[in-house]
Amino acid sequence: MESIINKINHLKRKKNALVIAHNYQLPEIQKVADIIGDSLALSREIANVGENIIIFCGVKFMAESAKILSPDKKILLPVKNALCPMADMIKAEKLKEYKRNNPDSKIVCYVNSSMEVKAESDICVTSSNAVKIVNSLDAKKILFVPDKNLGNYVKNQTNKEVITYNGYCPTHERVNKSHVKRMKNKHPLALLLVHPECDYDVLKEADFIGSTSQIINYANKSKNKKFIIGTEKGVLYKLKKDNPNKEFILLDNNLICEDMKKITLKDVLNALENEEYEIKVDNSISKKALKSLTNMLNKSL
Ligand code: 13P
Ligand code: SF4
Repeated sequence: MESIINKINHLKRKKNALVIAHNYQLPEIQKVADIIGDSLALSREIANVGENIIIFCGVKFMAESAKILSPDKKILLPVKNALCPMADMIKAEKLKEYKRNNPDSKIVCYVNSSMEVKAESDICVTSSNAVKIVNSLDAKKILFVPDKNLGNYVKNQTNKEVITYNGYCPTHERVNKSHVKRMKNKHPLALLLVHPECDYDVLKEADFIGSTSQIINYANKSKNKKFIIGTEKGVLYKLKKDNPNKEFILLDNNLICEDMKKITLKDVLNALENEEYEIKVDNSISKKALKSLTNMLNKSL
């Protein structure tokens, strides 16, 4: 393992490349990453870095957003088929049809969506800014796609009419209120920190709801010593690293996103050596998707 890490570090320097990783990536990937974060932080960071080659350790929609925001950089996804199943739950054609039938709605799309769906939307959101952005919109009626759970979470915090689509994250859908009950009984002093991709029955029981980085920041600042974590297992790496004297228990052992776990150190090395797999985007669609992404970034400064 040491030799592969040395090779990665050597190639990063030689090629002026940067490895960035989402909070759900395997611990060994987070260890070689130069930047780790949630979806919003990663979208923002890439535009500000000097390196021209970015090894994006995450899933395809994230690497695609990076390419749209930084078209002059070479964005490499180390594994071709690291996809987000939720992002594929809505197609642009379906959204176009809804827009034709509801010209008075604003379309808000979670960044976990395809470039084509972003292109048909008015604005993107991430789990860290969705409520703030929906509340700031000059519209009474909102269609929120594709995540019904994040959509419902937003709906409960706004006076606007929010219509949700029926997409969901298969990983976060694995937990329900019975998991919460069991874990709270077992660990009565622990605080429950959850991601808004969980069902509303789980969110109702939470002490804190936020994006992956917001969960990590909350735990870092909290005086509590024990936490039940309702999001993907990958966040435990940073939580434990930042807080060696606190205890973190996953709400359920099945909270693992298979796609987020596809990238290995060998794949990162291959990406650096052979500069694959490069993210390519269609110019006209990418221009429209860029508008939705920059609308979001401008509102969340
Ligand atoms: P955040 O890191 O923005 O919370 O996103 C979670 C997620 O599921 C990404 O796919
Ligand atoms: Fe998609 Fe869920 Fe995996 Fe995130 S955790 S990439 S939303 S499937």
